[in-house]
Amino acid sequence: MSPSARPKNDTFLRALLREPVDYTPVWLMRQAGRYLPEYNETRRRAGSFLNLCKNPQLACEVTLQPLSRFELDAAILFSDILTVPDAMGLGLYFADGEGPKFERPLREEWVIRGLTAPDPNVHLRYVMDAVAEIRRALDGSVPLIGFSGSPWTLACYMVEGGSSADYRTVKTMLYDRPDLMHHILQVTATAVVDYLNAQIESGAQAVMIFDSWGGALSHAAYREFSLAYMQRIVADLKRSHDGQRVPCIVFTKGGGQWLEAIADIGCDAVGLDWTTDLGEARRRVGNRVALQGNLDPMALFASPDKVAAEARRVLDSFESDSSASEKSCGHVFNLGHGISQFTPPENVKVLVDTVHSHSRRSSAGS
Ligand code: CP3
Repeated sequence: MSPSARPKNDTFLRALLREPVDYTPVWLMRQAGRYLPEYNETRRRAGSFLNLCKNPQLACEVTLQPLSRFELDAAILFSDILTVPDAMGLGLYFADGEGPKFERPLREEWVIRGLTAPDPNVHLRYVMDAVAEIRRALDGSVPLIGFSGSPWTLACYMVEGGSSADYRTVKTMLYDRPDLMHHILQVTATAVVDYLNAQIESGAQAVMIFDSWGGALSHAAYREFSLAYMQRIVADLKRSHDGQRVPCIVFTKGGGQWLEAIADIGCDAVGLDWTTDLGEARRRVGNRVALQGNLDPMALFASPDKVAAEARRVLDSFESDSSASEKSCGHVFNLGHGISQFTPPENVKVLVDTVHSHSRRSSAGS
């Protein structure tokens, strides 16, 4: 079924706002990606991953691909978190098989002092065009999620110059020159606010901040160098557009131990990786925020009946803390991190269908 042929479905937005829903909505981090043969075909036509991100028609095409295969309850803009540092002049490229890299990583003080936040409507115009194009194509079928990296996670790539096993360069700066680190984070936080607000104005109906490397920080450093900047971003975000609330999700991978602190920064929902129990998380945050997550992406490699059993386990873990009247309230099902490129697509269908059927049944029984 093409997305626009579907009835309008805002279950995802209602779950984020902890309004009653008939079933638990589901979407998957990296749902458009290399595990889908049709994605690989479009990427081949584009010539590269970055060309795909920079072409609004093709970005729209791949955003919609998982929705025509699976009954997902949200679409996520096809792009990457590293387009922001690219627009700040660092020169993003993808070396074959090595992941993202920057031609000009941030190492020298004079370069860092000269860093400025880009105008998203100029330097990231292709993202805004993709958002508008995807919204048109979705035609209200499911909501569109916009996103950004957190300042800390972006800074990791900006200073390291690419992925890192131990964050040695960026942590050396954090401990030795906290003033410089804070300067990078301040400019990047401004860039993220402008970028997310521009996405909202272009049509994003919810936004998510990916703090993928927040969990690599010490207890004290997390608050000072990651959470404080996400708090500022959340405070400066447009929270409604065109008369609709625009919910905001914050996801720190490895952040389960800081759950209460994250829930207190003013976001609508907190994303959890698979190491935290959802029922316990709910007891800890009460009704302050919705929760998103948290199936281990590797569970998708098991046989279909095991995939279904794990999906039910995640749903039941959330319900384990709810009173009957609150059933299916405030949970968005997702993976605990991005889907692996080796995932069998058939198992994704089993997952999505099980989330819907099992949560419908449990809410009908309430
Ligand atoms: O969720 C979605 O479907 C939306 C698209 C999306 C991508 N990247 C597409 C992508 C989103 C939300 C991201 C976020 C992102 N990018 C993060 C935060 C989330 C996370 O995973 O923790 C990070 C850290 C990045 C940086 C990045 N981009 C890396 C490390 C890589 C290489 C990953 C790998 O597996 O090789 C990318 C490339 C990337 N971004 C791909 C996709 C589909 C694969 C590119 C390809 O087609 O070769």
